[in-house]
Amino acid sequence: MPESVLAATEIHKAYGDQIAVNRVSLSIGKGEILGLLGPNGAGKTTLARVLVGLLDPDFGKMSYFGREASPRQKNVKRQISIVPQEPSFYMTFTVEQNLLFFASIYGLGRSEAREKADYLIKWLKLTGFRHKRAELLSGGYKRLLNIACSLVNDPKLVFLDEPTVGLDPKMRQLLWDKIIELKNQGRTILLTTHYMDEAEKLCDRVALMSDGRISVIESPYRLIEKFGGETILIFKLDKSVDQELIEKVQQAMPGITPRSVQSNLVLPVKQADSTKAIVKISKLVEESGYKILGSIVKEPELEDVFLNITGSAMGV
Ligand SMILES: Nc1ncnc2c1ncn2[C@@H]1O[C@H](COP(=O)(O)OP(=O)(O)O)[C@@H](O)[C@H]1O
Ligand SMILES: [Mg+2]
Repeated sequence: MPESVLAATEIHKAYGDQIAVNRVSLSIGKGEILGLLGPNGAGKTTLARVLVGLLDPDFGKMSYFGREASPRQKNVKRQISIVPQEPSFYMTFTVEQNLLFFASIYGLGRSEAREKADYLIKWLKLTGFRHKRAELLSGGYKRLLNIACSLVNDPKLVFLDEPTVGLDPKMRQLLWDKIIELKNQGRTILLTTHYMDEAEKLCDRVALMSDGRISVIESPYRLIEKFGGETILIFKLDKSVDQELIEKVQQAMPGITPRSVQSNLVLPVKQADSTKAIVKISKLVEESGYKILGSIVKEPELEDVFLNITGSAMGV
């Protein structure tokens, strides 16, 4: 287990009668990307805001870097940076002016501030926008500037709230690359998302959240393996599947219930058995006088995990 950056126990937060976060516990290790994944209203932002000190919990305990502390404590606060969804910089300042301004807030000297600004501008591919007013940037570049501003103080723990909402695919990929680079620099990352693919690509572990509770925290791979359910194999054949073939498949693979949909043979199999099943079924089908025109393997995804665990679809 890597060194603990953040450990939270029984965090609880309600707004009136509405319980936003219901006695949640979790821990984040150094260099880890932990994702809070769940539909809108699940409590992700509220939980994350408590963990980074933007909001006080009703009760619950938190430790940072191995010591019980409030995230508002000065020595903790300066190690945490927050990238909200909305722009948190000055629209009328240029990109460079914003970075220099944030550097001065964090107490960097003039030359250090300039160095940092230069580095971040280059790193986030904002070079062409250095002297542009922030308000003129596209949504994606505004998001990058938000990140840049939050990195000026060289934080150890970075919180990103829904980092890629509303971005086009190219910009999303750039952001993902940069988030992984932050991890590779040894930083620890807490992010919220309602995108399954984002959680699957970025996160070392994913906390599935719904109705204020975390039901499970695991690596995406393990989640899919444990809770994703079956892999679906579909063989497209050259003619309608007859009952005889169905029976042959059933005999050859006890415990599996094959179905036919016109000329498609459909089989749910255990993930671990899927490769063997493909070989076995292909042989059997061809021996029975069919030609295989194509095949599809539908592996379970995080979406299936969510459905299987919470009983409801992620739909947002
Ligand atoms: N400032 C607030 N006042 C009242 N209710 C809130 C406030 N912020 C969030 N909530 C409620 O708390 C629940 C969790 O919200 P939130 O943490 O924003 O979820 P998520 O980020 O997963 O979409 C929702 O039911 C939401 O309506
Ligand atoms: Mg949110």
